[in-house]
Amino acid sequence: MTSYHSQPDALADVQLDAYYMDGLDEDQRLPHRHFVPWDTINVSPATLPEYDEKIKTFFEEHIHTDEEIRFVLEGSGYFDVRDLEDRWIRIHVKTGDMLVLPEGIYHRFTLDTSNHIKALRLFIGDPVWTPLNRPQETHPSREKYTSSFPIAV
Ligand SMILES: [Fe+2]
Repeated sequence: MTSYHSQPDALADVQLDAYYMDGLDEDQRLPHRHFVPWDTINVSPATLPEYDEKIKTFFEEHIHTDEEIRFVLEGSGYFDVRDLEDRWIRIHVKTGDMLVLPEGIYHRFTLDTSNHIKALRLFIGDPVWTPLNRPQETHPSREKYTSSFPIAV
């Protein structure tokens, strides 16, 4: 069981969708969403070219200008996302987990002690790979994300 099952409210609060699935069907359909699988990334010292550099990049806090959608095919790892008080929420993803990180959320990724994750990268439109490292407070994607929450009274 993945750790996010114990904190579904925390993930919903930051508008992050998390699912466990036995596998993707032929159309890679999820309830109410349709993602297009783009490629597979295999992260381990033996399989990822320029591993040391890449793993550092993944762990730099960043945003994207689109959703980050990952389906874990093998292995495991950690996604960290910021909550609304700027604290980290750590999500331990394992085989069968699907995560949809919203556009503009601050996040980072690292491996766990298994030192290996193989994941499908999915997109709705054209793929966007570029990580935009923090701070990005005035970036339109960040503003879109932060302005999507109700104002506290
Ligand atoms: Fe990312």
